[in-house]
Amino acid sequence: MVTATVEDDAVAQRECLKNVFSMEGGQGEASYMNNSQVQSQILQIVIYVLKETLDTIRHPPRPEKLLTAADLGCSCGQNTLVVAGAIVQHMTDMYGSRGHDPPEFCIYFSDLPSNDFNTLFRLLPDYSAAAGNRRFFGAGVPGSFYDRRSPECFVDVFTSTFSLHWLSQVPIEAVDRGSLAYNRGKVFVHGASEATGAAYRRRFRSDLARFLRFRAVELKPGGAMFLVCLGRPSSTAPTDQGSLGLLLGDLFQSSWDDLVRAVSRH
Ligand SMILES: C[S@@+](CC[C@H](N)C(=O)[O-])C[C@H]1O[C@@H](n2cnc3c(N)ncnc32)[C@H](O)[C@@H]1O
Repeated sequence: MVTATVEDDAVAQRECLKNVFSMEGGQGEASYMNNSQVQSQILQIVIYVLKETLDTIRHPPRPEKLLTAADLGCSCGQNTLVVAGAIVQHMTDMYGSRGHDPPEFCIYFSDLPSNDFNTLFRLLPDYSAAAGNRRFFGAGVPGSFYDRRSPECFVDVFTSTFSLHWLSQVPIEAVDRGSLAYNRGKVFVHGASEATGAAYRRRFRSDLARFLRFRAVELKPGGAMFLVCLGRPSSTAPTDQGSLGLLLGDLFQSSWDDLVRAVSRH
């Protein structure tokens, strides 16, 4: 007889989440593309940090002919193109200021397999030196950024914006009825017990360490990484998500509860 343990469930859950999680695709009213203005505004504010990060790339004595970048958790909206465009523009200017021709650019767009890559690809303008608007080759790379995503020493610049707060899975203790950290069916950490908060913190630390370990293998020596993620003051516990808690903790939770009730009635 085979008995599924809580750990088996957790592995199954992680594998399942990888395949079903995604932002709303397409270009409709409810799509991520039409509902990511806040992220877009923040990106405009912090884009100078991306440029400063690119300035730290250590170049070999002869300039590289090809520059590779990878956007992890790219989703399918305009923000992805803003980041890609800023990399191309800034590196082209930098090469020009040193009297070199710009390199060719290859940009890998990576997200979970359920992401709407087709919408993203349709947004990419044709590669056309004459039009001068798209000066990079693009490719989609489906899969989790908590796994290896590219060959060793392959990528000059990693970017990831508004994605790293997605955990690889719900902490197993939070769904284990026998655990002190059991979150009583809730889907978010805001307002939960201290033990649940600690379980979420452990999950985040271990996910982030895994993310960084793989990027360390994949990044070329002298390469750079630009990460933008949601945060909160370190003085507060994960169980206090501030105003975000109102949205994710209360509104989403009660919508989710309504949905589950409606489904279980049928
Ligand atoms: C809020 S969107 C951010 C999209 C875009 N980077 C931006 O700045 O607007 C978060 C994206 O992260 C992706 N994501 C979440 N967990 C991921 C994982 N483990 N591996 C790869 N992508 C992931 C989601 O599918 C989603 O498309």
